[in-house]
Amino acid sequence: MQSASDGLAIGAVDAGCPVVRPLWGGRFESVPSVELASFGASIAVDQRLWREDIRGSVAHARMLATVGVISEADFTAIEAGLAGIGEEIEAGSFVFGLADEDIHMAIERSLCERIGAAGKRLHTGRSRNDQVALDIRLYLKSRTVDLMEGLVALQRVIVRLAEEHLGVIMPGYTHLQKAQPVLFSHHLLAYFWMFDRDVRRLRAAWSAANVCPLGAAALAGTSYPLDRRQTARELGFVDVAGQALVVPNSMDAVSDRDFILDAVYASSTVMMHLSRLCEELILWSSFEFGFISLSDDYATGSSIMPQKKNPDFAELIRGKTGRVYGDLTALLTLLKGLPLAYNKDMQEDKQAVFDALDTVELSLRTMTGMLAHTTVNEAAMSAGAEGGFMAATDLADWLVARGMPFREAHHVVGQLVLLAAKSDRTLADLSLDEMRAVCSLFDEQALAALDIEQVVAARSTEGGTSCERVSEQLQQARVILAKAPSNSNLPEPVRHD
Ligand code: ARG
Repeated sequence: MQSASDGLAIGAVDAGCPVVRPLWGGRFESVPSVELASFGASIAVDQRLWREDIRGSVAHARMLATVGVISEADFTAIEAGLAGIGEEIEAGSFVFGLADEDIHMAIERSLCERIGAAGKRLHTGRSRNDQVALDIRLYLKSRTVDLMEGLVALQRVIVRLAEEHLGVIMPGYTHLQKAQPVLFSHHLLAYFWMFDRDVRRLRAAWSAANVCPLGAAALAGTSYPLDRRQTARELGFVDVAGQALVVPNSMDAVSDRDFILDAVYASSTVMMHLSRLCEELILWSSFEFGFISLSDDYATGSSIMPQKKNPDFAELIRGKTGRVYGDLTALLTLLKGLPLAYNKDMQEDKQAVFDALDTVELSLRTMTGMLAHTTVNEAAMSAGAEGGFMAATDLADWLVARGMPFREAHHVVGQLVLLAAKSDRTLADLSLDEMRAVCSLFDEQALAALDIEQVVAARSTEGGTSCERVSEQLQQARVILAKAPSNSNLPEPVRHD
């Protein structure tokens, strides 16, 4: 049973009140027991949609009045009644009852109690099926904008850190084995681009939600002369040119939730990227790496080991990633196999979508703060880039520059690495004689190829780790951020809260 203690509820559901006849009770001789009513109710979860529900109802009622289905006086009463209900919910004084079943019925029931006959006209030409599809679309539009803003805030911190530490060299890894030295800024900026694509995915999810289902009614459309485009326009379902966007097929409008999948998939990808960054922070803050120190605010201690400073928050984001994937899987599974059009199964979508969006929003905020307060240990990073044969490729390239085919050069340097490793030395520790014993092409200048600064500077292909190229990247990132959030190019983004 869902209860106010779910943590999702914003208002109490009075489970103790006797089940009264629901709004649809006309053809029923008895009503479900309290237990069944609780089982069937989504009110504890979907009451979060109250703002969207009221917005949608005002637009629907205004349109009904415009096309002459209800009177202007009825519309005025409905609008005022809904405003009063909104104030009560906002203030926390609205009592949700179990008979309300969901947020749509709660608001309509209360409206009828408040304004009588006019309230009973609100649902003309509408079904909860198109109503709930509308509410969730409105909700997703505002939450995806919030998430895009959250991503941009994180990207700003990444760019600031990359600027502050430009020039600092660290080991780059493949297979978590030291591979080649890179700039720390380069490594960090990789995440800038991941989050940039996440913004785009969320923008696409926003667009998928930006089509109005209202007017589909239960499944087949309605016999009332509704103006679907008027409601779509009033609710902000418009393209960049201001043209109304309505779902072209009434059955599709009430039965698909693919736009939710888009948002939750985009959220899953954000979490996946956050999780990878968390993994780096966890490794880098370990004693063994020592590349960064997390701020005390973003770490916790151990109840038994006094020396411990644990990266709990990074670990939690990594862990919560699984939760969000679970939400995506739940939604995909929920929808498969449903015949057209609406099925009550779909009521189960809210818990998953709310959980996914809440988790990603909180995780983004946590990561942004954690990164902003992280200390970068530049010396430890540079020291880490020195050992481990990080210049091996460059030594091979040096031989290539002297005419040796790369594959052969690779083999020669491999032999040098073996020689050094066997005697617990680095390439730079080898004498020129030892090197020449393996390949006579080596001379004094070969040693310059082992210089780590040189190695980094040489990687100057577009998108490479040389300081110049990373500066270019930083510039591109700044341009993107300067346009954000307007670069999301969303007509009339609707703010949530
Ligand atoms: N609470 C329902 C949901 O979230 C609203 C739609 C109910 N429609 C119906 N015909 N029972 O899906």
